[in-house]
Amino acid sequence: MKGIILSGGSGTRLRPLTKITSKQLLSVYHRPMIYYPLNTLIQAGIKEILIIVAPERAGDYLNLLGSGKEFGVTFTYEIQDHPEGIAQAFLIGEHFIDNDDVAMILGDNIFEDYFAEEIKSFKGGAKIFAKQVSDPERFGVVKFDDKLKAEKIVEKPQEYLSDYAVTGLYVYDKRVKDIVKNMKPSARGELEITDVNNWYLEKDELSVALVKGEWLDAGTFDSLFKAQTLAKEKIAPKMVI
Ligand code: G1P
Repeated sequence: MKGIILSGGSGTRLRPLTKITSKQLLSVYHRPMIYYPLNTLIQAGIKEILIIVAPERAGDYLNLLGSGKEFGVTFTYEIQDHPEGIAQAFLIGEHFIDNDDVAMILGDNIFEDYFAEEIKSFKGGAKIFAKQVSDPERFGVVKFDDKLKAEKIVEKPQEYLSDYAVTGLYVYDKRVKDIVKNMKPSARGELEITDVNNWYLEKDELSVALVKGEWLDAGTFDSLFKAQTLAKEKIAPKMVI
């Protein structure tokens, strides 16, 4: 299993904080934000990690994270020239993924849980992780049938669908590269991760696990603020980096 951290984008919702640095390098309690998703991958036992960054910030990431030796893993870096959707990571990471399975995490997603078992037990297809939230309209949303089987996934639904947000951790088999190659950008001009998930769902090859602990996407002022307390109280004490 290889790992990808998608840490591109320009963080427009966090201006002016992100005028001179990347969102995922902002501080969350005692660490830069990206340490949290990195910790999640490392705790899941992943050793080869691709970090995808925006061109203007690439040097900062290299200075901060280096080769990975310090963390007992190996880093590869790639540039995302234009932020054209989360699924673009699999085009950028095509050669890195090669013939392996891949776990991708978004650089602004902070999880309390560990996923070692979920990652080890992955047997192909796709696995995503959902969490009940009070503001589902901000996310990809998954609707379950009465047996808790995923029925439908919609990106930022305008009408209420369910409270279950799709979090920013995704596990796919190597087919994901070809799926994205054949996809078209959405109305907002992005290669949508929700389209990838629906591809697997239609083939009945998507499983959805529920996230038990806390989860935050730290991409807004309010969630970044909440992340500070969550990190201090629940995550920092158990981090390995
Ligand atoms: C993205 C995805 C969305 C997912 C969310 C998790 O949203 O498009 O499906 O629920 O990440 O953080 P974005 O942060 O790009 O608005």
